Amino acid sequence: MTTKLDWEGRVGRSWASEWQRTDRSFGGLTDQLLGKASVRSVLQALDVGCGAGELSMAMARGHSTAEVVGIDISPELLEVAQQRAGYLPNIDFELGDASNWTRPGFRPDLIMSRHGVMFFDDPVAAFAHLEQIAAREARLVFSCFRSFEENSWADRVAGCLPAGAFVPPDRFSPGPFAFADQAHVRGILGDAGWTDIAFEAIDYAFIAGTGEDAVGDALDYFQSIGPAARAAAGLSPDEKARFLGNLGRYLRNNEEGGIIALRAAAWIVTAKAGRS
Ligand SMILES: C[S@@+](CC[C@H](N)C(=O)[O-])C[C@H]1O[C@@H](n2cnc3c(N)ncnc32)[C@H](O)[C@@H]1O
Repeated sequence: MTTKLDWEGRVGRSWASEWQRTDRSFGGLTDQLLGKASVRSVLQALDVGCGAGELSMAMARGHSTAEVVGIDISPELLEVAQQRAGYLPNIDFELGDASNWTRPGFRPDLIMSRHGVMFFDDPVAAFAHLEQIAAREARLVFSCFRSFEENSWADRVAGCLPAGAFVPPDRFSPGPFAFADQAHVRGILGDAGWTDIAFEAIDYAFIAGTGEDAVGDALDYFQSIGPAARAAAGLSPDEKARFLGNLGRYLRNNEEGGIIALRAAAWIVTAKAGRS
């Protein structure tokens, strides 16, 4: 389970210090999201859980007349986003919880998110709030992971830990895999007032390491980001050495031409604000 408190604190700080590597591993989703988001012109776009700002920036660059706002609950991630996007005149970032955030005069006709919507304590209330602040017939476009087992970058990496060190995520508790189940997500969005709900399965390459020492790069990355990171931090020195040995072998087997690309499986979910 990854909660609001985690993102406001330790997890948000790790992501802020690792933003280049997280962008690298989630980069395969940005164009997919933009493709779906750009089927109509955009006046005001809200990026929910914008993190270090990659999707907001891509939207602001591609739609120069649109007003783009990225919101997040992690002050450290927002600081990175603000530094990166300072040169773009049509973008703004704000600290805020998407489940109650509002801005006078801002009624987005597009609400988008790259993996930022699976962490709400009460997802129906949060999505109902987003539907309320959206423009009439606004579109919702977001990505989220499919199941843990379909994401070998997570499943196989956690499998390198000693037996019992890793507790698989609960299927529906807030966290990266909380939206894996289509029926569950359809229920949340429908109850929150969204219509025309559709899912597209996307398989993409989760780039875990690159360069001359791609294995070292990925070993380093997985000790601060991802489901194994927290468990790895609590291992004894012997257990940790075994974990890193197992993980190193797995990563080496997946290295090709200085790149470690692991299998990742996501949904791109689209919907329409239901108020007529
Ligand atoms: C997996 S990260 C994705 C970050 C970014 N969208 C990206 O693609 O790099 C999830 C993000 O959602 C943010 N988040 C979690 N709960 C939130 C909430 N209730 N309101 C706003 N942001 C939230 C976290 O702080 C974090 O930046």
